[in-house]
Amino acid sequence: MADVSDVDRSMGIGRLTQSEIFRDGASGRRPRVPASWEALEDAARNAMTPEAWAYVAGSAGRESTADANRTAFARHRILPRILRDVTDRDLGIELFGHRYPAPLLAAPVGVLELVHPDADLAIARAAAALGLPAVLSNQASIPMETVAAKGGRGPLWFQLYWSKSDELVASLLARAEAAGAHAIVVTLDTQLLGWRPRDLDLAHLPFIHGMGIAQYSSDPVFRRLVAERMAARVAAPEAAGPRPRVTPAAIRTLLGMTRRYPGRFAANLRSGEPRIAVETFLDVFSRADLSWADLPRLRELTRLPIVLKGVQHPDDARRALDAGVDGVWVSTHAGRQVDGAIGAPDALPGVVEAVGGRMPVILDSGVRGGSDALIALALGATAVAVGRPWVYGMAIAGEEGAREVLRNLLAEFDLALALSGHRSPADLGPEALAPRG
Ligand SMILES: Cc1cc2nc3c(=O)[nH]c(=O)nc-3n(C[C@H](O)[C@H](O)[C@H](O)COP(=O)(O)O)c2cc1C
Repeated sequence: MADVSDVDRSMGIGRLTQSEIFRDGASGRRPRVPASWEALEDAARNAMTPEAWAYVAGSAGRESTADANRTAFARHRILPRILRDVTDRDLGIELFGHRYPAPLLAAPVGVLELVHPDADLAIARAAAALGLPAVLSNQASIPMETVAAKGGRGPLWFQLYWSKSDELVASLLARAEAAGAHAIVVTLDTQLLGWRPRDLDLAHLPFIHGMGIAQYSSDPVFRRLVAERMAARVAAPEAAGPRPRVTPAAIRTLLGMTRRYPGRFAANLRSGEPRIAVETFLDVFSRADLSWADLPRLRELTRLPIVLKGVQHPDDARRALDAGVDGVWVSTHAGRQVDGAIGAPDALPGVVEAVGGRMPVILDSGVRGGSDALIALALGATAVAVGRPWVYGMAIAGEEGAREVLRNLLAEFDLALALSGHRSPADLGPEALAPRG
């Protein structure tokens, strides 16, 4: 599958994808990755362990925010126009000085090793094959340098969780710049981990097993923090608190985190470094005291465009503008943080109005098809991002599965655009939607 911008425009990615699927069908082949959302979800659930499914599909509390994301999209209806020439379509957009072939990004998703061993490499390659930006998670399973070198060389962005150590933040940002990231996305809705009953019921948090900490265990500053903690532990062993009970599960956890940690297994087992690294990670992961006063420091630490992710209130969007950041990303973190919160599509218009066209607005949470993307763009988003959809594709068929999900979304968006009488994202505005009475 070629980069979307290479596709013959009169054919468009929509028709091209349909015709590939139907031609395959004529020779008896069905797609491995279902195009319908419910079938995709079912196939992904079957492909995952119960722990992986809980982590990926679970949201906060009663999961009402995840529902609100969907019902908010459903309340908006497209108002199609007829007799407009839609032969020659261009899905491309420009963001932060880069031309991308479509207004779609792969949202940052952590701990992908739960889903597939190729993890971050798989999504980077899948997005690169379509020319779309992949946002690498701070909680990745594979270090960003490896992904930059072997992930298909497509556009990459880096998502940052602002750690308690500013030195670590500086190091991660410098690495992202060196790896060629186009932008930094700072996620600000995860100062603390949301209350997620599906994970709580299985008593399973991947990080405690040493998963999702590859950006840390490959970082020189983090490794120094770990070494300092180990030295302190030798000097004052009683600081470790009571020894954990030795059970078969505890031994499995220890062996798992040791196997995942860089370096030699036997040496790591002897030194106990992987366990101390997990402890260090849990300590430094995020800061609950982060405030607007901290933002100028971030500006000093990177030349890259800064996008604030997790913005929902118009006043926060205004403050982001005043703070001189380069973009905002409306998100409910897939409903994984605040149960009972506003659906992202309902938060979008207020943020768009506050920003007044002065910087890009990205939206995610609940985008499941091309028409959702169209609605978000008509409401003023510059681009949309998706998380769970491609994660489900990856669970079913690795890189190929993630690519097929992204391609299907683009195909459906292309057709929704054409069939509603539009030729490009720039054509979309409030008039593309039915007035809400
Ligand atoms: C399993 C999972 C892990 C995630 N990990 C991260 C992360 O590491 N960093 C981050 O900023 N957002 C993370 N997110 C949120 C996504 O970036 C994105 O906001 C969300 O998935 C979009 O909603 P959707 O899944 O409905 O498309 C995660 C989401 C899921 C489902």
